Amino acid sequence: MEHNIVEDVNHPHRKFLLGIIEKYNPKSILDVGCGYGGNIGNLVKMFPNAEVIGFDIDNECIKFARKAFGDYPNVSLFCDRIQNIKDVFKSTSFDIILTDAVLMMIPPEEIHGIIEDMLHVGNNLIMCEWNIFNKWTTLALGFYYRVSGKCKDLPFIQNSKLGVCVRHSNVYSEKRWARDYKALLSDFGVKDIMITKLPEKFGDKRWDTLGSVIEART
Ligand SMILES: C[S@@+](CC[C@H](N)C(=O)[O-])C[C@H]1O[C@@H](n2cnc3c(N)ncnc32)[C@H](O)[C@@H]1O
Repeated sequence: MEHNIVEDVNHPHRKFLLGIIEKYNPKSILDVGCGYGGNIGNLVKMFPNAEVIGFDIDNECIKFARKAFGDYPNVSLFCDRIQNIKDVFKSTSFDIILTDAVLMMIPPEEIHGIIEDMLHVGNNLIMCEWNIFNKWTTLALGFYYRVSGKCKDLPFIQNSKLGVCVRHSNVYSEKRWARDYKALLSDFGVKDIMITKLPEKFGDKRWDTLGSVIEART
């Protein structure tokens, strides 16, 4: 089935996210894990003079986004892994590095290196991800996954800074991670951190309790 890009671009959380990005008046934005381009479709309209770069591990997404937005002169699209951004962009300094529902896929053992690399190539990080506001509730959820046998390979006590598994499907063996982004970013000496809970109700319990926009200014 063909992806519905109009629905994707108009997803209610994007308006809120764009309202935050707008304050930065960016000249360059790297949308890491851009998917089909749901944010790119809005960014090109809002910032017609900014350089907008989409980056995703999934070549099908990049091909789709190229078809939808490749004609905009300020848009470029790359297929690569977030784990390679430092090598791909070297000393480029983007005004904004954006992630939207991407870091939640990154496991605890990789998140430190990825945040370090994102801080290397970006002046400001804006991340729409699952943030842990209440450490104990989230740790209890992680504990539940472990003891219920749904996810046997999780440690009994998970690290809320590096990631607590808040979704696991045995069918696809996908895990999704919530984390305490303030604690994580503090490891890199980032002091200017703002975390805003997403206001919308998505009908998904995890988005409603954990969905947040994390802003980190370096
Ligand atoms: C839930 S989708 C979100 C897509 C997009 N950010 C949006 O808001 O519509 C997550 C995206 O992250 C991409 N992704 C997952 N792991 C990645 C990685 N290691 N490097 C780059 N992209 C990744 C996936 O291919 C997918 O397109």
